[in-house]
Amino acid sequence: MAHVDSLQAYAESVAGCTRCRLAQGRTQVVFGAGNPHADLMFVGEAPGFHEDKQGVPFVGQAGKLLEKLLAGVGLGRDDVYIANVLKCRPPGNRDPQPDEIEACESHLFRQIELIEPTVIATLGNFATKLLSGRPLGITRVHGQEQPTMLAGRRLLLYPLYHPAAALYTPAMLKVLESDFARIPELIGSAMPELAPEPAQELTLVATPSPPAEQLGLF
Ligand code: URA
Repeated sequence: MAHVDSLQAYAESVAGCTRCRLAQGRTQVVFGAGNPHADLMFVGEAPGFHEDKQGVPFVGQAGKLLEKLLAGVGLGRDDVYIANVLKCRPPGNRDPQPDEIEACESHLFRQIELIEPTVIATLGNFATKLLSGRPLGITRVHGQEQPTMLAGRRLLLYPLYHPAAALYTPAMLKVLESDFARIPELIGSAMPELAPEPAQELTLVATPSPPAEQLGLF
């Protein structure tokens, strides 16, 4: 099955998910949106009121800010893929509960497996703790990229403040903007290391191999 088809097929299979209590109160599952081949993926917390109604992540106030930040680094929503830790809206926008995260996490891991991003920007505490597998809060780790193995692949995890938190705190917005400004550089740095250029491989094949010690590999 082609790449995009399998992401679409997976989205369809998740549309009727009843793995946790949030199935009862949702309007619809908010699976994710954007470019299924994106190098850069964002992972937020959970759908809010507007996301639940429209079925698309980050369409409310926080989403407007995310779009503005993306535009600031020359990107649009269609260049990236946006998803959340939870695919269904918690009542009254309360925090995700541990058993809800556990029930939902394999949906996110499958998305990562299918999209194959080279950089994942986690927005806020919930996504950062889940994907880093560490309990450190976002205030400690924002702006610090971490090479990570996820869904069987090496990629760069880049924790950021959640745009909703930055909306009403100007100091946090400044930090988020400056962390965001490094995104193009991170995508650039993740690419060659994670996906070697075919041209480099060809050169290696065409040149007779010198003894290993001359290559300085060991
Ligand atoms: N906040 C999130 O974490 N996700 C959304 O989709 C919207 C707001």
